[in-house]
Amino acid sequence: MKIAFVSAEVYPFSKVGGLGDVAGALPVELANLGISVNVITPGYGSINRKRFPIQRIPYRFTVKIGGEMIECGVSRWVSAEQPKHCVYFVENEFYFGARGIYNDANGRAYDDNNKRFLLLGKAALEIARMPGERPDIIHCNDNHTAMIPVYLKADPALHHDFKNTKTLLTLHNIAYQGIDSMDHKDLYGVPDDFFRPMAALEWWGQINPLKAGIIFADGISTVSPTHAREIMNSEVFSAGMQNIIRSSGKTVYGILNGVDYQEWHPATDRYIAKPYSIETVEEKKYNKIALLNDMGLDQSVVNKPLIGMVSRLVEQKGISLLIESIDRMMTLDIGMIVLGSGEPEYERAMRKFARRYPRRFVVDFGYNNPLAHKIMAGCDMFLMPSRYEPCGITQMAALKYGNVPIVHKTGGLADTVIHWDGQSGNGFVFENYSSDDLIKPVRDAVTVFMNGKEWRRIRLNGMATDFSWKRSAQQYIELYEYTCQVL
Ligand code: ADP
Ligand code: GLC
Repeated sequence: MKIAFVSAEVYPFSKVGGLGDVAGALPVELANLGISVNVITPGYGSINRKRFPIQRIPYRFTVKIGGEMIECGVSRWVSAEQPKHCVYFVENEFYFGARGIYNDANGRAYDDNNKRFLLLGKAALEIARMPGERPDIIHCNDNHTAMIPVYLKADPALHHDFKNTKTLLTLHNIAYQGIDSMDHKDLYGVPDDFFRPMAALEWWGQINPLKAGIIFADGISTVSPTHAREIMNSEVFSAGMQNIIRSSGKTVYGILNGVDYQEWHPATDRYIAKPYSIETVEEKKYNKIALLNDMGLDQSVVNKPLIGMVSRLVEQKGISLLIESIDRMMTLDIGMIVLGSGEPEYERAMRKFARRYPRRFVVDFGYNNPLAHKIMAGCDMFLMPSRYEPCGITQMAALKYGNVPIVHKTGGLADTVIHWDGQSGNGFVFENYSSDDLIKPVRDAVTVFMNGKEWRRIRLNGMATDFSWKRSAQQYIELYEYTCQVL
């Protein structure tokens, strides 16, 4: 079986969040199980081309977006360990080569992201029809690639070329729909019918590519079983798409993400002060001491609970709930460290707390992968108060580092973190999304922390959990087969 896996981010070449993690790790695991996977992604200027042997191949094509003919080249990276896994980069200097992923250096979204990702979708189809490439499935991810299923069914030439190809659209974040102004409909290259009120691309007078992708894809999935149920049963969790999914008659399949233990394992982590494992968990404290030193936290925190957070600073992640709760949390005599990047108003609020609780509450803004690893290894508890969380990868990594998660019971958090009931469990969970409900498990976790014996058990339970990609990859293979044969 041959898969073309199209994604706007692919770790280690490009990454903003978990989508990059998935597009980096899942194809490797699929290839290990015998599937041939060609990942297709933009050749951004931010990719470190000195680090990876990425080579131009002699293939060029032209894509039409609106009235513009856009010339593209193609580069390829082939895994040295796994020849069934390769990554194709769409090369265009203006749209990709001279820029980063979604935002400019000041954190502002590029104002032509609509065009950039229409280009990705169309270019992916050109790459997928290179000689010898024709995939059985084009696996699309999120709104950036959601027009691919539309083109495959609406364009007669493409429809013919890909008559044996099916599409699967995975919803990593249904709230980001790629909404665009109706003034831009000429860019989309589909007949006017698609934009009529209630038609596939029309959404409250605007253009909604994700909606059209849901309607046209052969299969739809999301990244945890609980989130699949949430979006099929709730207007809020589905960000308005519930009825679109219902009327499409499709089931949303939920396959839990994995975590890449090559990247996230305390025994082999190249960024941390002292590697450790489940057998040598006492050594974790050296990482705590190093983190306190590096981040300027008070040395007394070494004997107190240290709570960490690594997150995009956006509403989804429960940052406003955290802000409401910090003063009450800090009465518990804890240390806290937040690494995040995102909305400036959240950064301002966090800075205020860092001034209010010097050397006990520290923040770092920006994208910092080595620090994310140090936080995993150095903290005792890991907070994820997400309002919604399709899967979440960080809590699964935290478990492996013996960094006990405290999470809101939603999506993939509900599927991976089991509340400690005094006997079993690997973390602390709160059900209602309120500051009162958040503070309770934090308090419970602090109490259990003080009782060293119970804490040791809960931490070991977490470290023993296995969320490797292999199981998820097997489920994707079943879904690919089902999509080819039945959908
Ligand atoms: P999401 O995709 O919604 O952001 P996930 O938990 O699935 O959430 O994935 C987030 C990924 O991004 C993790 O690998 C996490 O370590 C990483 N990450 C998030 N924020 C930062 C940051 N500021 N610096 C470094 N890595 C980050
Ligand atoms: C999205 C979700 C996150 C998920 C990730 C990868 O960014 O917010 O929960 O883990 O995609 O699927």
